[in-house]
Amino acid sequence: MKILVTGGLGFIGSHTVVELQNQGFDVLVIDDLSNTNISVLDGIYGITGKKPTFVELDLKNQAGVASFFQTHNDLKGVIHFAASRAVGESVEKPLHYYHNNVGSLIYLLEAMERHQINNLIFSSSCTVYGQADKMPISESSPFKQAQSPYGKTKQIGEHILMDTSRVTKLNAIALRYFNPIGAHDSALIGELPIEIPLNLIPFITQTAAGLQEELLIFGGDYPTNDGTAVRDYIHVVDLARAHTKALSRLLQNEQKSSFEVFNIGTGKGSSVLEVVKCFERIVGKTLNYRIVDRRQGDFIEAYADTTLANTELGWYPMYSLDQALQSAWKWQLSLHTN
Ligand code: UD1
Repeated sequence: MKILVTGGLGFIGSHTVVELQNQGFDVLVIDDLSNTNISVLDGIYGITGKKPTFVELDLKNQAGVASFFQTHNDLKGVIHFAASRAVGESVEKPLHYYHNNVGSLIYLLEAMERHQINNLIFSSSCTVYGQADKMPISESSPFKQAQSPYGKTKQIGEHILMDTSRVTKLNAIALRYFNPIGAHDSALIGELPIEIPLNLIPFITQTAAGLQEELLIFGGDYPTNDGTAVRDYIHVVDLARAHTKALSRLLQNEQKSSFEVFNIGTGKGSSVLEVVKCFERIVGKTLNYRIVDRRQGDFIEAYADTTLANTELGWYPMYSLDQALQSAWKWQLSLHTN
């Protein structure tokens, strides 16, 4: 069974390709290599012994997307990761974000409809909730004002899917990720920040590896137990497994409606300081860090109610925060030795 993974050489995409191949799917990958490296293909091959079919393509190229689907019109489903995801950058370059994250989704959906490819999994984010009033956040929490154009593109993406699935044969599932971290146990694939990392865990591992001088902890005066912001950190392999569960729901027509959404997180909130302490314990190193002002646009806390994913997808996370941080560190070390 052929499955297309857009953005399949990215962080979450590559781990999902591995899970799909392990389950026997024939995987095609589209990626524009804007935020990753072609060598990820070797990492995937190293784990599964199979290289996915790879097409370098920017989904903003409407003609290119149309022509890809003309050649590959026997796909059983699409998992759509390809998107830009840096919150701060989206504030600086809103048009790029709307074009890349929303425009491309439209081209993709048009091509899928033309070839009657009806199954889609969409990368959404807990950012669609804005600062939710109640923790843990369930799927019924309303969309509040998104803090960035990036967040808005995820809200708009979900609206597009909801509206389209109502009037076409599209069956779509949006997975709302909380904070994906960690790497495959093999340390052959992981997160590859091209520039200075913006996210917490790669910044921590780079600081421990001596590539960054110190970790700045953004905000020590949040109304949380220790004053630092709280997030739900989910191992990327668990996240990848959620995609294969969602895909089998689509392929077996188990959906309760043509557009469904699921939170994917651990259900447990951890503060930045808790993550730092956990990391220090695991690697036996003291991290150089300093608490500074809050980062603009950050929320106080976000952790998931995952009841729906548990009951409907039969998905449960398998990895702990310890294991996720351990794997992130192993990956960081492998980057030096390769
Ligand atoms: C954000 C987005 C999320 C997006 C993700 C990927 C929101 C609410 N969340 O997650 O949708 O998918 O980025 O880019 O828009 N921190 C530090 N020092 C650092 C880096 C981070 O203290 O050097 C803190 C942050 O302030 C935050 C926590 O660590 O409290 C996690 O930050 P980060 O890893 O950047 O993820 P989010 O901002 O939660």
